[in-house]
Amino acid sequence: MDNRVFVQRRQQLIAALQPNSVALISAGFEQSRSRDTGYPFRQHSDFWYYSGFNEADALLILTNRPNMPPVQLLCREKDPAQEVWHGRRLGPEAAAATMGLQAAPLSEQRVLLQQALNGSALVYLHLTENNTLLQQVTEQMQVLQQREKRGDSAPQALFNVAVITAEQRLIKDHDEIAVMRQAGQISAEAHIRAMQFCQPGRFEYQLEAEILHHFSLNGARYPAYNSIVGGGSNGCILHYTENSSVLCAGELVLIDAGCELQGYAADISRTFPVNGVFSAEQAALYQLVLDAQYAACNAVAPGSNFALVTAAAEQVLTEGLLGLGILQGKLSDLMASKACKQYFIHGIGHWLGLDVHDVGAYKCNGAEQPFQPGMVLTIEPGLYIPSGSPVESRWWDLAIRIEDNLLVTADGHENLTIAVPKELDAIEQLMATTL
Ligand code: GLY
Ligand code: MN
Ligand code: MN
Repeated sequence: MDNRVFVQRRQQLIAALQPNSVALISAGFEQSRSRDTGYPFRQHSDFWYYSGFNEADALLILTNRPNMPPVQLLCREKDPAQEVWHGRRLGPEAAAATMGLQAAPLSEQRVLLQQALNGSALVYLHLTENNTLLQQVTEQMQVLQQREKRGDSAPQALFNVAVITAEQRLIKDHDEIAVMRQAGQISAEAHIRAMQFCQPGRFEYQLEAEILHHFSLNGARYPAYNSIVGGGSNGCILHYTENSSVLCAGELVLIDAGCELQGYAADISRTFPVNGVFSAEQAALYQLVLDAQYAACNAVAPGSNFALVTAAAEQVLTEGLLGLGILQGKLSDLMASKACKQYFIHGIGHWLGLDVHDVGAYKCNGAEQPFQPGMVLTIEPGLYIPSGSPVESRWWDLAIRIEDNLLVTADGHENLTIAVPKELDAIEQLMATTL
């Protein structure tokens, strides 16, 4: 993204601060995996959103105080010996020249942090994720308190900066929407590839490999979350990521996978028969989840909300489960008791963005957060009937989830993941043309 985007976002954050305040946003940390190997570094989403700077050990100091630079970046100094082992560093000089901010080496963090805190009314920072920074800030506040006789003054309160950053990130701008559209397209193609590659005898992780291969070949090196490929009863485990079983004819396979592109997540689920043809029970239950998904998607428009979308899906699921004999009783009673939740065991969806379960409030002053153009969310109804459930055994071990990513637009929504088929016959046709 163009650097102007990050400059503008920082200006918006500064404009949202109380007068005479400072905000601190810390970069992500490198995590050890075992001895000398590390997990791939992934920047903290807020830090990325306001900087586009992909190094660990960095700090953004933002302020609306008149006699201070509005934005300072503290980052690692250039160091040829370190860089030859661990990778290139931009360094403060180049950062200042390219990012439109003042920059200083990390060695100055203590002094610059103290200057920023001294005389500020409020400090905004992450109160949960970054204990190191919180510890440094509280230490500095104690030092400043002890020096009040000298004219120094400590901030009066710590505020959760996420309250501001989450609100800003909830509405996606033009550049974010362009990236998310592309992430949705790449992920959709990867699901198509997995459907075509699938056949009895292949392992779940081999379908995962097809998906990751497609992500990487198309510019998205990492998945946005650990991919789920669950055949048969494994599909009933919501966060199944072992992906180690062989896929058997007669079973369904549930895939939940999406790429991360320039930090932005896609999040798609599809379910299909391992041998390419739905059985009668699989088809009946699948069509029901699909109908519920369409009902929920149709309810996505400005002014709607997650409660309305949930109600639309639950109505269809309850009627359908009653029709199939999986639920029994009076429709009104089953709706009132939310009987479908026995098999629809998660929520209808979530905000999507830099985090797969993205930031943003679901309630606003106690009421549902109304959908607005620029919000992106998932719609993902599912039914899971593990063996032993109190229904005829022909329904056992069926697990179905269908998940798309929707952008709220002025006149409704745009489905960013429409390219991967979900109609029964379209899936069967696609699987008839194996890779
Ligand atoms: N892939 C995680 C979710 O669907 O929420
Ligand atoms: Mn999801
Ligand atoms: Mn998902």
